[in-house]
Amino acid sequence: MTTFILNNKIIKTPEHSGITLLDFVRYQQRLTGTKIGCREGDCGACTVLVGTLTNDTMKYQSITSCISPLGNSHGKHIVTVEGTNLKNKLTIAQEAMKANYATQCGFCTPGFVVALTGFALSNSENNYSNAIDAISGNICRCTGYKAIEKAAHQVVKKLESQEKNSFKWLIENEFIPEYFKNIPQRLKDIDVKDLNQPKGKYVSGGTDLYVQQADHLADNDVYLIAEKHYLKGITIENKTCTIGTNATVSDLWNHTELNSILPNLRQHLKLVSSEHIRNMASIGGNLVNASPIGDMTIFFLALNSNITITNEDQKERTILLKNFYQDYKKFDLKTGELIKNIHFKLPNKCSFFNFEKVCKRTHLDIASVNSAIHISIEKETILEAHISIGGVSAIPKYLHKTSDFLIGKPLTLETILEANKMLQKEITPISDVRGKSDYKRLLARQLFFAHFMELFPNNFTLNDFVKHA
Ligand SMILES: Cc1cc2nc3c(=O)[nH]c(=O)nc-3n(C[C@H](O)[C@H](O)[C@H](O)COP(=O)(O)OP(=O)(O)OC[C@H]3O[C@@H](n4cnc5c(N)ncnc54)[C@H](O)[C@@H]3O)c2cc1C
Ligand code: FES
Ligand code: FES
Repeated sequence: MTTFILNNKIIKTPEHSGITLLDFVRYQQRLTGTKIGCREGDCGACTVLVGTLTNDTMKYQSITSCISPLGNSHGKHIVTVEGTNLKNKLTIAQEAMKANYATQCGFCTPGFVVALTGFALSNSENNYSNAIDAISGNICRCTGYKAIEKAAHQVVKKLESQEKNSFKWLIENEFIPEYFKNIPQRLKDIDVKDLNQPKGKYVSGGTDLYVQQADHLADNDVYLIAEKHYLKGITIENKTCTIGTNATVSDLWNHTELNSILPNLRQHLKLVSSEHIRNMASIGGNLVNASPIGDMTIFFLALNSNITITNEDQKERTILLKNFYQDYKKFDLKTGELIKNIHFKLPNKCSFFNFEKVCKRTHLDIASVNSAIHISIEKETILEAHISIGGVSAIPKYLHKTSDFLIGKPLTLETILEANKMLQKEITPISDVRGKSDYKRLLARQLFFAHFMELFPNNFTLNDFVKHA
């Protein structure tokens, strides 16, 4: 039985754990405030909050319920828009949407209200930029976004005087209803034994699988791995970072130490989907989806990461991520094997990391071409270089020859221009909906140059490269 708290009600359901949470709340529970728009995680009409209790602390995150399996709610608190309602008055988020005329047809409004309520409940610092991030997964086709942005601003203002994430304050100040205060104890009382039969398709966050095969997963065995503890966690020890493959993109975003080691991490991760999707999207799912433009895959290839793979008998093997991919969507994983973790040597004071991405829209879009670089320099000489690039090959591509070419060379414009010639020979872009092959070659070059302008602004300017274009 999948067991969880839905708003203020305990649910124990024998429903197939592979159906979507959206279908469960709308069709089984008749909570129709949660809307169906795209069913692909793109519009946010189906936004709900997931509350998780860890060491006596509740953490709420917004997700798109259309691509989340019901079974991932086991042991959690799920909040739909109905669950945010107060008796006889509007909550702060609802009132902000109303007061700023941020709703017209109203179809998107529950999603925005839930996401803004999630922002009030979250640990993220209270500022306008974070409030806008919190609704980055919500689309409105009617109002234009100015009114919605004003509503977000109003929520931020109301939160200014409070200790964030304090249930007591949020209840007293009409952000959330009173029943929230008993949720931690009620979750403790729920019996959350592992439900899984170890068979069927591995599903972590579900953000890739449910876009492609939601109906199939609702009828067949699913092996839900998102809550497996041995696949979780981020540790930094002996100059190495190890990330359990169930860590989500948001887990990286929230990891203080990792953010101090990779100071632009959040700036890079902001380019990955929306906050709602980042809250579900696991690193393992990104690697095994094997998309030639998977952002996290490109990111970790340039960090020259290793992956540890485990099988049903808990036998482990470790390989370099750059040797994992064999051909389009073909990779070195046998039946029953799981990626357990990914690990890489931390950049040091002589080494520099950068990630670049070009897509048709700045946010919530997959890349046309993306690229990452990790390069070590001493006395203006390149000691080590790892470059990856997506969207220009059948696989997420580690540029072996270009990386090797750079080693031992001086950090000069000539070196970079020569390396670009090598890069152009290593890539094989095709024309598709993301752009023509020539355009992708151009993007590959521009992103390669952009790495050096970003990392060494005193050495290289745009003009240097324009002259040689
Ligand atoms: C709206 C939207 C926007 C998106 N934007 C981006 C984007 O900007 N950039 C980007 O890179 N991706 C994007 N994605 C794709 C997706 O979110 C990521 O690839 C995500 O990391 C997948 O993780 P998951 O946990 O959801 O994977 P799942 O869907 O759960 O799994 C994907 C595959 O991996 C397998 N799998 C999962 N974990 C393991 C494991 N540990 N070992 C072995 N196999 C495993 C599953 O069996 C499945 O085949 C987007 C998706 C959506 C819906
Ligand atoms: S219905 Fe569009 S994100 Fe779920
Ligand atoms: S008010 Fe109509 S979609 Fe937003």
